[in-house]
Parts: sequence; structure tokens; C-alpha cells
Amino acid sequence: MKNVIYYLVTFLLIFTSLSAQELKPVLLPEPQTGGGRPLMQVLKDRKTSRDFSTKKLPEQILSNLLWAACGINRPESGKRTAPTAMNKQEIDIYVSMAEGLYLYNAKSNTLEPVLAEDIREFTGGQGFVKEAPVNLVFVADFSKMRQGAEEQNIFYSATDTGFISQNVYLYCASEGLATVVRGMVDKPALEKKMGLRADQKVILAQTVGYPK
Ligand SMILES: Cc1cc2nc3c(=O)[nH]c(=O)nc-3n(C[C@H](O)[C@H](O)[C@H](O)COP(=O)(O)O)c2cc1C
Repeated sequence: MKNVIYYLVTFLLIFTSLSAQELKPVLLPEPQTGGGRPLMQVLKDRKTSRDFSTKKLPEQILSNLLWAACGINRPESGKRTAPTAMNKQEIDIYVSMAEGLYLYNAKSNTLEPVLAEDIREFTGGQGFVKEAPVNLVFVADFSKMRQGAEEQNIFYSATDTGFISQNVYLYCASEGLATVVRGMVDKPALEKKMGLRADQKVILAQTVGYPK
């Protein structure tokens, strides 16, 4: 049964990724949800860092990171590690790495190809951004939210992103990784580069890597 699901997911991902032909879907390893340091110690260590090594993150660490950020922690309901207003689950996590841009699919625990291009430099103007291995881009999909409630949708998508970002901070503090959440992003340029629809908006970006 597991094999059938694996092949089905792989087939679907290949089929839907015609715009990123050279970039293959990545089936991430199962997230390891049993580890981590005690919460109070992690809170003591939570901090922003801006000095990143160029060393890549292994797939297992990426899987754990994305699960901690906004993975499914209650499979029976599909709810996430981060709360979302009215359970709209409107924040998508895009993962920008040297090999290209992916979209994290929490259900299938996969990275779906979006662009076969290194767009890290577009995810922020600070020097370390294009050197660090991973830049997460938090994108609000307003089509999933209440129509005609723009002010509320902007507010909720910003708060929902904050919870995800803090999960990333805590995971990084637990694992000894460096991270910085970033609002200083040329959002219109990045949205264009990512090929987002008009009702999808970049909220924040967050760099993750090993400390230098
Ligand atoms: C919404 C938000 C936007 C931020 N934008 C940036 C940014 O664009 N660039 C940056 O280097 N740090 C950014 N930061 C990180 C803050 O500068 C950092 O959290 C603050 O200096 C406190 O440091 P600490 O996180 O170590 O407590 C941002 C933080 C938040 C919450």
C-alpha cells in the first residue's frame, strides 16, 4: 500500500510540474518527531543569526524543519504544527535553494518543483541571503480566505506567518542551526520571479543554514 501511494504521489508531482521540467520532485524522508532539546532550553537559545555557512542542509533536516514549521501534526484532521485563523491554512512555504524553487506539500511530505532556477538573491537584499543554503518564503494564498475581507485577511495572514516563523526559530535553536526572519524583501519583484497569482502575496522570508 505504501509503495502504491509513493508511486501515485511521484506520478502526480511529475505530471503537475511541467513548468519546472529539469527540477525533480523530492519525496522527503519521514520527519523525525521524537527528538529535540527541552523547550525551556530551546527558548533560552532562540535568537536571530545572520552568519551562514554555505553547507547544504541534508534532506532529513529539511524534512524535520518543514514539519516543525507547518507540518501536519494531527493526520486525522490535517491540522498543523502552527495555528491558522479559522483553520484556513492559507500560508504556503516555498523553499528556495541553489537547485531551484520548490513548494512544500505537507500532506505528501514532498517538495514540488516550481522553478528550475536559483532565485535566492531575489528573496532578500542582504548579503548572506544568496549564500545561505535555504531561504523559506511564506506566501499567503488569499483565495483560501474570506472574500471581501481584505483588511482581516492581511492581518490574519501576517499573524499566521509569525507562528510558522517562530516554529522555525525554535527548531533551529534546538538543532544548532542559524536563522533570520526577514521583512526586507522586494516583494513585487519576488512575486513576479516566483510566478505568483495576483491573489498570492509574499509575507516574509526566512533564511536557514548552518552557522558560519
Ligand atoms: C517581522 C520581522 C521582520 C524582520 N525583518 C528582518 C530583516 O528584514 N532583516 C534582518 O536582518 N532581520 C529582520 N528581522 C529580525 C529582527 O531584526 C530580530 O528579530 C531582532 O533584532 C531581535 O533579535 P532576536 O530575534 O535575536 O531576538 C525581522 C524580525 C521580524 C519579527
